[in-house]
Amino acid sequence: MKKRILTGITTTGTPHIGNYIGAIRPALEMAKDSSESFFFLADYHSIIKNNNSEDIKNSVKNIALAWLACGLNPNKTIFYKQSDVPEILELTWILNCVTAKGLMNRAHAYKAAISLNKEDPDKGINMGLFSYPVLMSADILMFDSTHVPVGSDQIQHLEMTRDIAQRFNHLYKPILTIPEPMIQDSENTVPGLDGRKMSKSYNNVIPLLGSEKELRKSVMKIITNSLEPGEPKDINDCTVFALYEYFASEGQIDDLKKSYKDGISWGDAKEILFKLINEELNPIRAKFEELKNNNDYLNDVLHEGAKKARVLAQEKILAIKEIIGISKIN
Ligand code: TRP
Repeated sequence: MKKRILTGITTTGTPHIGNYIGAIRPALEMAKDSSESFFFLADYHSIIKNNNSEDIKNSVKNIALAWLACGLNPNKTIFYKQSDVPEILELTWILNCVTAKGLMNRAHAYKAAISLNKEDPDKGINMGLFSYPVLMSADILMFDSTHVPVGSDQIQHLEMTRDIAQRFNHLYKPILTIPEPMIQDSENTVPGLDGRKMSKSYNNVIPLLGSEKELRKSVMKIITNSLEPGEPKDINDCTVFALYEYFASEGQIDDLKKSYKDGISWGDAKEILFKLINEELNPIRAKFEELKNNNDYLNDVLHEGAKKARVLAQEKILAIKEIIGISKIN
């Protein structure tokens, strides 16, 4: 069977370097080989936790821009907004009807949310959050995805998707493709300015689409130890070095290792890091600048992507509905 990779990006916030290293860059790398690729903006997922329409709109735009600026080729990858493929919501309902409530009770995201509540465990929990994994399953199963690149926090959702698909196939006919997860961050997470995982919620991110000046300012804010220039430095547990490794060649890494031994100052090490990240981001920034005021182009790209996706989705949902008995009277 043909390899078909599919991944969704929840449209909250603006992308940072951690998203770039952990998700965008590897996914685009995968899309380059001969497999088919589907990348989409999970805007229906984003309204589960955010009801600020301006936030959602801005995020959809910035995330679409980020992927295109980073080199997504919309002629090769089917790139669309989840909400432009309404068949996904039809499938969501159908899958809801074969999903055990008990399975959803075990979802980490839901469990984490109820564990914060004291008297009433259901306080602030909407049905969207509870059935989040079903929507995600529909995203994946709609297109017979075979491989799903995700962060390790999504492993459980992939397991649930496989469970739900297997149950459907068992109850009806084996029509749903069982997907394989491709875990993108199993060994290490990208550190942020304070050394913890780079994350918007820790307020420690380096923005992907900022200006050169902003990039420099962020890099200079990276927390280091207080060793003086001339004192040898350890490459382990060092955020500057860890980030450098994501952008540098083997030779460059060896050179910086040597400089650490020789007691490079933190200022100089950060300058080297800044230059290297900036080199990689320069063309991305240029493309971003070119596209950012061209909403017509963005809308066209997403519209074309949705058109291609819908052809497949419509065919699939028809077959699924036929199997469950929602079809013409005959
Ligand atoms: N839940 C994923 C995340 O937050 C985003 C997502 C939605 C997704 N639907 C998907 C990822 C389908 C892979 C496949 O990261």
